Amino acid sequence: VSTIRISASDSEPTGYDVIIESDALKTLPSVLARVAPAHRYALLTDSNVAAHWGEAVLGTLAAAGLAAEQISFEAGERNKTRDTWATLTDRMLELGLGRDSCVIALGGGVVGDLAGFVAATYMRGVPVVQVPTSLLAMIDASVGGKTGVDAPSGKNLVGAFYPPRAVLADPLTLRTLPQLELIGGLAEAIKHGAIADAAYFDWIDESADALLAGDQELLAALVHGSVFIKAGFVAVDLHENGARAALNFGHTIGHALERATDYELHHGHAVAIGMVLEARAAELREIARQGTADRLRQVLRRVGLPTILPARISPDDVIRAATTDKKARAGQTRYALISQIGAVARGAAGEWTWQLPPELIRQVLEEDHDAYTSPL
Ligand SMILES: NC(=O)c1ccc[n+]([C@@H]2O[C@H](COP(=O)([O-])OP(=O)(O)OC[C@H]3O[C@@H](n4cnc5c(N)ncnc54)[C@H](O)[C@@H]3O)[C@@H](O)[C@H]2O)c1
Ligand SMILES: [Zn+2]
Repeated sequence: VSTIRISASDSEPTGYDVIIESDALKTLPSVLARVAPAHRYALLTDSNVAAHWGEAVLGTLAAAGLAAEQISFEAGERNKTRDTWATLTDRMLELGLGRDSCVIALGGGVVGDLAGFVAATYMRGVPVVQVPTSLLAMIDASVGGKTGVDAPSGKNLVGAFYPPRAVLADPLTLRTLPQLELIGGLAEAIKHGAIADAAYFDWIDESADALLAGDQELLAALVHGSVFIKAGFVAVDLHENGARAALNFGHTIGHALERATDYELHHGHAVAIGMVLEARAAELREIARQGTADRLRQVLRRVGLPTILPARISPDDVIRAATTDKKARAGQTRYALISQIGAVARGAAGEWTWQLPPELIRQVLEEDHDAYTSPL
């Protein structure tokens, strides 16, 4: 078993363990007994995960004598809403779950964010244990204490910081995860290597085939490596010094691509393309060493991620989406950049993000558009 301790921070006032082990689901009852003993448990999950893992988890809990009620909602980001929050909390109330109950969030990031927010608000807060079942949830969404739902005007606009009592990541659950989702999660792992650890980045490159084939030992090592890196940035950000922003590498353009395609483009795909383009912009600005974008391209391709703008998206669409980003601070779009594989590029005054002119982004987008014709 490998365990990473997430220490207390401003956003997460209590620390907790991320437990990573193949077949760790079996140990869920003992983890619950240790960190979240409760009268009854609400097993919150989505329709896909319920079909694959619901019975097994309920069986494990029942065998250990724990009382649990499974409540599931239809899978999909479009259901990460206040409506679903209301449905889930109403169902918990109907079932008579009290203040002495605990939420188990079994699923991908949608379940984690939604169930975490349910736990944060149910009777002013009941404990939650996160059991992430997608690679993205294991290495990204379940660490850092952010929970919440989407609103019509944007994603994740209503929520709370609410740390779990523990995170239990079992790579065995990734066996049923669609390959597109596994590959999408790998984009974030590659990002972690790109911003913090060149050796980890190279290791993903070398291990690509085995990771994609579901090798349990390597997947556990991947989750460990990525959680360790994400936890480091979250911990450094104690005083809101902005370190956490480094995790947004590839995401400024990535989010613009998602918006420009009305969220048809998978988040992981968008971030992969975003990292290459942002690295290229950093090269042109002499913020990043030459060849950084090419090295990113190689590794992203190796795991089956796209690295060029889909032909159906024009540079104009992307620029428009990037400049209307609500997160663009006071109208200025900011970018988290790297100076080379394994290192974040910090500004002269230590800033974690950079302002880049739209002309530079246009240049990078057009250069990319002219050089390749994407099959996507
Ligand atoms: N809280 C945070 O800090 C944070 C960070 C990053 C992302 N997020 C959020 O996470 C969400 C994305 O997470 P995601 O990519 O896991 O999406 P998701 O939860 O929608 O899961 C992707 C798909 O895989 C299915 N699935 C999950 N695990 C499975 C399994 N083991 N077997 C079969 N199918 C499985 C789901 O039902 C879904 O259809 C977004 O809403 C995003 O905002 C949150
Ligand atoms: Zn992301």
